[in-house]
Amino acid sequence: MNMEGVMSGGAGGFWMFALPLLSKSGRSTLNEQGHSGVTLLAVGVICALILILFWAGPGGAAWALYRGRKPIPGPRGYPIVGSLMEMGTQAHRKLALLAREYEAEGLMALSMGSTRLVVASSPETAREILHSTAFSDRPIKQSAQQLLFARAIGFAPHGEYWRRLRRIAANHLFSPKRITAHGAARQLECQLMVDTLHELSSMVVDGSVTVRTHLQHAALNNIMGSVFGRRFDFHSTEGRQLKEMTREGFDLLGAFNWADHLPLLEPLDPHNIHGRCADLVPKVVAFVQNIIDEHRLNASTAKDCIAEMDFVDVLLGMEDDDKLSDADMIAVLWEMIFRGTDTTAILTEWILAELVVNPEIQSKLRHELRIVVGDAQSVTEAHIARSPYLLAIVKETLRLHPPGPLLSWARLSTRDTHVAGHLVPAGTTAMVNMWAITHDEKIWENPLEFRPERFTAGDGGVELDVKGSDLRLAPFGAGRRVCPGRALGMATVQMWIAKLVLEFEWSMSSKQPVILDEVLKLSSEMRQPLEACIRKL
Ligand code: HEM
Repeated sequence: MNMEGVMSGGAGGFWMFALPLLSKSGRSTLNEQGHSGVTLLAVGVICALILILFWAGPGGAAWALYRGRKPIPGPRGYPIVGSLMEMGTQAHRKLALLAREYEAEGLMALSMGSTRLVVASSPETAREILHSTAFSDRPIKQSAQQLLFARAIGFAPHGEYWRRLRRIAANHLFSPKRITAHGAARQLECQLMVDTLHELSSMVVDGSVTVRTHLQHAALNNIMGSVFGRRFDFHSTEGRQLKEMTREGFDLLGAFNWADHLPLLEPLDPHNIHGRCADLVPKVVAFVQNIIDEHRLNASTAKDCIAEMDFVDVLLGMEDDDKLSDADMIAVLWEMIFRGTDTTAILTEWILAELVVNPEIQSKLRHELRIVVGDAQSVTEAHIARSPYLLAIVKETLRLHPPGPLLSWARLSTRDTHVAGHLVPAGTTAMVNMWAITHDEKIWENPLEFRPERFTAGDGGVELDVKGSDLRLAPFGAGRRVCPGRALGMATVQMWIAKLVLEFEWSMSSKQPVILDEVLKLSSEMRQPLEACIRKL
C-alpha cells in the first residue's frame, strides 16, 4: 500500500491503521482484516444511525437522552449546532414563529449547540417557570463569568449569598424612600439633557436631533449618581474612560459567542471574548476600587440624609452578615451600571418614537401633564403619580417593545422538574418569550396597534400592573429573580418622558422616517436610532 492511498483516505486507507488495534493479536491475516473491515463499517453505520436518531427527534441532539414519555415539541435544527444559526438579531421573533410552526406555544424544546433549551410562549407556562423554585438559577455566559458577574445579583447562583444581595437591594439600594430621595438628581439629569437637545436643535434648520447618545449619557450619569454619588463629564478623560469601559462591557455581554454553546471551541476563543474581557477587567477593578477608597476616606463626613447616600455608602455601611468584601462590592456595583443604563435609555427612546408616529397620543399626554403639573417649576414624583395616561403609555411601550423580549437573561433548572406536564431535566436553560406573549392576538386585541387606552380603566381598558403578578405583561420578569430595579427604572422613564413632552413638541424628521424595527443585543433597541424634530414649547 502506498502512502498516497493512506493520506487520501481511499478504501482501506484510514481504517488500515485501526484494524490491528481491533484484531486480538495485532497480527491479523488478510482474511481477518477483511472481516474486521466489514465489522468496523457496520459499527460506523450503526453509530451514524444512532446519531441521526438522536438528532432527528423533537428538540434536536441536545435532547437525545432526555425525551421522556411525552417529548417536548420543537425543531431539531442542524447536527452539532442545532438551532444556533437560525436565531440572528431578532431571536424573539424567530422563536415565536417556531413555536407556532411546532404548535409549541406552551413549551418548545431546542438545541443550541450542546445547550438544552426550553422556551415558554404562553402566560401559563411562563408562570410555571418564573415562579418555580426549580428555576432560580441562571446560566452564565463566558463573558459574564469573566466580567465578575458571577458574584453580582443577576448571576449569583441561588443560595445564601444571592439571598443576602437581594435583601440588601430590597431594603437599602432600591427602597421606596431611596428612590424618592433621588428624585431631584433624576430631574437635574433630565434638565441637562433638555438644555443640550435645545441647543443642538436650534443649530439646524429643521430642528432635528438624534436623541440616543443624549439619552445614554443621561442614563449613565443618572445611575452613576445613584451608585457612586457623582456624575461625569463625558468630554473629560475620566468620563471618556468610563464610557469606553461600559461600551466595551455592553458589547461583550451582548455578543454572540459560539463557545457558550459548543464548549470544545472555548480554548480557541473564536470571537476574542476571553482576550477582550481579560483586558477590561483590571481597568474596571481599578476604577471602582478607586471610588470605594475615596468613599472610605470621606467616611468621616457623615451623610445622615438618605438623598446624599449612594450605593457605595450603603454597602460600606453594611454590618455583620450583610458585610461584603471589596471584590464582591465591585461586582455588585459594576452590574448595576449595566442593568440600569441601557434599559432606561432604550425604553425612553422607544416611547419617544411612538409619540412621534402617534401625534394625537402625544397631545393627549401633554394635555394630561399640563393639568397635573400646572404652574409648578418642575415635574415631581407626586405629579407622576397623578398621570395615569403617562403610565399607560409606558406600559403600552413595554408591551409592544419590551427591552428584554426574552427577559434579558434566562433561567436554569437546578433539578428535574415538570412544566406543562413535560419532564424538564436538571441543567436545562429556560427562556420566557415575553415578546411572543405580548404580541399574541389570542391575548391582546390588535396586538400590533399602539393603543395606551387598553391600560386606562376610564377607556374600558384593564389596570394591569407590571410587577410580575400578571404574566400577560411581565417585562421585568417575575418570581424570586424579578427585576429589583423596576421601581427605579419606571420612576426615571416616567419623569423623563413627562419633562421631554412638556418642554418640546416632537415630530417626524424630514431627513429620516421613524422605523419601529428592533435589533436584539443585550437589550432590544431601535435598529435605526430615533431622529426627530423638536420644537421648544
Ligand atoms: C426599563 C427598565 C428595566 C427593565 C425592562 C428590566 C428588565 C429586567 C428583566 C426582564 C430581568 C430578569 C427578571 C427575571 O429573570 O425574572 C431583570 C433582572 C435584573 N434587573 Fe432589571 N430591568 C430594568 C431596569 C433595571 C434597573 C434600573 C436596575 C438597577 C439599577 C436593574 C437591575 C436588575 C438586576 C440586578 C436583575 C437581576 C435580578 C436577579 O437575578 O436576582 N434593572 N431586569
